[in-house]
Amino acid sequence: MCGIVGYFGNKNAVQLLIKGLKRLEYRGYDSAGIAIMGNGSFTVTKKAGKVRDLESLVKDSSISGTVGIGHTRWATHGEPSDLNAHPHTDYTGKFTLIHNGIIENYTVLKKLLEKKGIGFQTQTDTEVLVQLISAIYHEEKTTFEQAVIIALQKVIGTYGVVIMCSDEPNQIIAARLGSPLVLGVGNGEYFLASDASPLVEYTRNVIYLEEGEILTVGDDGYQIRKLENNQKVDKKISQITLTLDEIEKGNFPHYMLKEIYEQEQTIVDTMRGRLILDEGTVHLGGIQDHLLRIERARHYYITACGTSWHAGLVGKYILEEFAGIPVHVEYASEFRYRELVIDSRSVVIAISQSGETADTLAAIQKAKERACLTFGICNVVGSSISRETDCGIYTHAGPEIGVASTKAFTAQLSVLYMLALYLGRKNGYSKKDGIELSHALHDLGDRVHDILNISDQILKVAEETVDADNYLYLGRGANFPVALEGALKLKEISYIHAEGYPAAEIKHGPIALIDDKMPVVFLAPHDQTYEKVLSNIQEVKARKGKIITFTDRITSDLEALSDHLIEVSVSHPRTFPILATIPLQLLAYHLAVLRGCDVDMPRNLAKSVTVE
Ligand code: G6P
Repeated sequence: MCGIVGYFGNKNAVQLLIKGLKRLEYRGYDSAGIAIMGNGSFTVTKKAGKVRDLESLVKDSSISGTVGIGHTRWATHGEPSDLNAHPHTDYTGKFTLIHNGIIENYTVLKKLLEKKGIGFQTQTDTEVLVQLISAIYHEEKTTFEQAVIIALQKVIGTYGVVIMCSDEPNQIIAARLGSPLVLGVGNGEYFLASDASPLVEYTRNVIYLEEGEILTVGDDGYQIRKLENNQKVDKKISQITLTLDEIEKGNFPHYMLKEIYEQEQTIVDTMRGRLILDEGTVHLGGIQDHLLRIERARHYYITACGTSWHAGLVGKYILEEFAGIPVHVEYASEFRYRELVIDSRSVVIAISQSGETADTLAAIQKAKERACLTFGICNVVGSSISRETDCGIYTHAGPEIGVASTKAFTAQLSVLYMLALYLGRKNGYSKKDGIELSHALHDLGDRVHDILNISDQILKVAEETVDADNYLYLGRGANFPVALEGALKLKEISYIHAEGYPAAEIKHGPIALIDDKMPVVFLAPHDQTYEKVLSNIQEVKARKGKIITFTDRITSDLEALSDHLIEVSVSHPRTFPILATIPLQLLAYHLAVLRGCDVDMPRNLAKSVTVE
C-alpha cells in the first residue's frame, strides 16, 4: 500500500519522481504528491487523484531541484483529499515526510503534541510522525538524524518512511519497519523506492533495507545503521534482473491483458528445470534442504490472502488427492490471531505474489515462533516473506502490475501442482500417473495458447451479460476455488457483484437469487463430479438462469442446457482448474472494459496490502 520514491543526485528530480510514482501506482492511487528541495527550502505539490493529475499540476510549473521525495497513496487514516495526500509537513515548515504503513499509537502521540500547542492540518496518522520529529528537533536541539531516530523509537506500528529537512538540504533520511524500501546506487546519485521498478532505467545496483534499519543519504554517500543501537551495517549490493519490457505495457491496452497473455510463458517459466518427465516427479531446489521435515510433517497449513488464498484452496484439494496429506487453509489475517494447534511437526506454507502482504508476513512470523517449518511460495525475489521463510519455491511469473492478480495465480497453482506431484510420488502416487501428470504440466503452455485463441467467444459472453448486476460462479472439487477466483476477478475490476460457490451449495441459499437476468458460470469438466454438476445446471436452467459453461469436452447434454458453451483445451483432467482460470480472467476483463472501468486501477484496491 502506498508507493514511495526519493531522489538525491544531479538531475531535476520532478520528472524522475513522477515517472517513478507511475511505476508504483499499483500500490495505491487515490492521491499523490512530491516535495522538491531547492535553494535551502522545499516545495510540496500534492493532489487527490491519480499520478497523472499531479503531473498536470507540476508540468508547467517552475519547480526544480535535484533532491526530492514522492508518494502515491492508498488511504488508511483520513479520506483521499489534497490535504491528506503525502508529503506531510510539520508546524515549522522545516520537515517534510512520506510514509507507507500505519502509526498505531498516533492518537496518544497526537494528544501529547497538541498539549504542546502543535496544531494538526490533516486526519492522517502520518502527520503525527512529522510533527513529532520536528518537536524533538526543536525542543531537544538534536540533529535531523537524531530527531528521526528518537521519533521512530516512540512509534508503534509500521513504516517505510522518507524525510527531508530544510536545515539539511543535502540529506535524505529513510527507515523501514514493516514496509519495503530499496536504495538504488547510481553514479553519484541515489534513488529510493518501495520496489525496484522505478530504478530500472537508472541503475542495476540496489540495496534492500531490512527491518529496523535507517538510511542516510548525503553528499558523502550513504550510511545504513540499526535503529535500535545505532550500529553501522555493511550491506551487500544486489543486482536487479528486472527489464523495462517486463514492467511496461507494450502494445497491450492494459497491464491485466498483457499479464493474462503472458501466462502462456509464465506457467512454463515456473516449471522450467523442475519437472522430471521420465520419472513422473519434480525437483524443487528451494526446499531440498528441508525435504525430510516436509515429508514427515504432521500438519500442513497454507496461509495467504486474496487470490493467493484461492490458490491455497486449490492446493488443499490436490495435495490431499495426490499425496494423501491433510491440509488446512487459513486466511493469514485469521491465522495470525487465532489459537492454532501447530508446532515443530507442522509445515506452514505462505503463498504471496508480492511477498509483502502484512498479514501473511505476520502469519509466518507466528509460525516461526511456534517452531513450525515455514515455506514460502512467492513471486517477488528477495521479498520479505521469501526472506523470512525457512525455504520456498519462487513462482517466476515476472513482475505483476495489474492490480487484479492473474499470471501470479496460475504460477502459484503450477508450484502447488508440482509440490503435490512430488509429495504424491513419495506417498504412493504411481510412476505411471506421475508421468502422465508431469507431461500434462509440461504441456500447459500450449494449452494456454489454445485458450487465448478463444478470447472472442468470451467477449461475446461479456457483451450479452454486460448489464447484469450479479453473477454466480459454480464449481466442485478443486474447481470450487477456481469459481471463487472467477467471482473475485469480476467484482474487483467490473464492480459487478459476484459470488463463487460449490455447485451443490446453491440449493442452500443462492438459488433464491436466480432469475432470467442472472448469469451463472459453471465449471464442468469430465471428472468424478461431472454428472452431479450436470444436475446443478438443470436446477439453474429450471429457474431460467443464463448458463455459461466451461468444459473440457463438449457434449450434447451440455449443449442442450447452456446458453454459452466454451471448451477449455486440456491434456489431463486434473489440470482443468489451472486452465479454466484463464477464460474467467478474460471474462472479467472484457466485462470491465465494456463497462468503462479502470481495469488496471480498480477503485479502492491496491496490489500490495502492507497494512493489516
Ligand atoms: C491484494 C491484491 C490481490 C492479492 C492479495 C494478496 O488484495 O489486490 O491481488 O491476491 O492482495 O497479495 P499477495 O501479494 O500476498 O499475493
